Amino acid sequence: MTSRLRVDNYLDADYFDRALRSDVLAGLQLSPKKLPPKWFYDDRGSELFEQITRLDEYYPTEAERSILRTYASDIARASGADTLVELGSGAADKTRVLLDGLSQTGQLERFVPFDVSEGILRSSSRDLLEEYPELTICGVVGDFEHHLGKIPTEGKKLTALLGGTVGNFDPDLRRRFLHEIVAGMTPGDSFLLGTDLVKDIDRLELAYNDPSGITAEFNKNVLHVLNDRVAANFDPDQFEHYAKFDTDNEWIDIRLRSLTDQDVRVAELDLDIHFAEGEFLHTEISAKFRKEKVAAEVAEVGLELTEWWTDERGDYALSLSVLK
Ligand code: AVJ
Repeated sequence: MTSRLRVDNYLDADYFDRALRSDVLAGLQLSPKKLPPKWFYDDRGSELFEQITRLDEYYPTEAERSILRTYASDIARASGADTLVELGSGAADKTRVLLDGLSQTGQLERFVPFDVSEGILRSSSRDLLEEYPELTICGVVGDFEHHLGKIPTEGKKLTALLGGTVGNFDPDLRRRFLHEIVAGMTPGDSFLLGTDLVKDIDRLELAYNDPSGITAEFNKNVLHVLNDRVAANFDPDQFEHYAKFDTDNEWIDIRLRSLTDQDVRVAELDLDIHFAEGEFLHTEISAKFRKEKVAAEVAEVGLELTEWWTDERGDYALSLSVLK
C-alpha cells in the first residue's frame, strides 16, 4: 500500500532563528523602525490571535467562515479542481469546509497544506486522512516568502490564501507574492483569496482597538518575542498600542509608540537602540480591499477574477481568479 501522506520540510532547525536575527538587526536600524508581523506568532502570540478572532469587534474571521460555508460547493464547481493547496493551513479548520465542497462534487483527490509548523501540519493531516478516505496529502513545510516554488504542481489546483493574510503585505510585496503563487499554477488552475474590505472607518479601527486590550497585547507580544529569543530588554509597559486607518493607502497602520525616552539593548545581536518619547515602531499593516483593487492586482500577474462572494454585511470577500 502506498502511503497517503508525504511531508517535505524545507526549514532547517535554525531557519527561523536566522530570519528573526536578520529582521531585527535590519528593522530596528531603519527609520522609522519596523518589524515584520510574522514575529507576533510564538505560542503566546498565536493564542492572543485566537482570542482576537473571537472578539465581537473583530468581524473578519466569522465573516470569512460564513462565506466559506455558504459557497463551498460553488467554489468547488467554479474551480473544477481536484487538488486543494492551502497556504498557511494551520490547524486546517477552514480546510474542511473546502474539502467538503470538493468531496460533495466528487472532485476531491489531493490536499497540499503549506505551513511553517511540521508538527501542526502532521497532526491535522492525520485527522484529515481519516475523515476523507479518498484523500492523498502532500504537505510542504516552508516559509511562504521563500518556498512557494516547492509546492507540487500535479492536479487541477485550487490555491487558497485565506484569513486576510494578504493584507499584511504592502502592494510591492503583494505583487511579488502573487507572482510566485502564479508561477506554480497551470493555466485553468484557480486562486481563492480572502480579503477584508474597505468600510466605515469607526468599525475598521474598532476591530484593531478592542476595548478589552487583546489586540494591544498581541501587538506588544513582538517585544516579548524579542526579549525571549534574542535577549532584548524591552519593557512592554513603556510602549502603547496604536492602530489607525490610513485613508490614502487604505490599510490599518499598526505600530507601537514609545511612552518615554528610552534605550533598549538586544544582547544577542550586540545592538543598542534608542527610542525617543513618542517614537513609533511599525509592526503591521492590514490592507483593506475593494473589488476593483483585487481584480487589478490579480490581473497584473495573469489571473482573471471570475467570482466574488461576500458575507451578508459586505464586510469581507472571497474571490476566485483563474489563470489564463
Ligand atoms: C492575521 C493578518 C489577517 O490583519 O486582521 C488582527 C492580524 N492584527 N489584529 C489582520 C491582526 C491585529 C490579522 N491577519
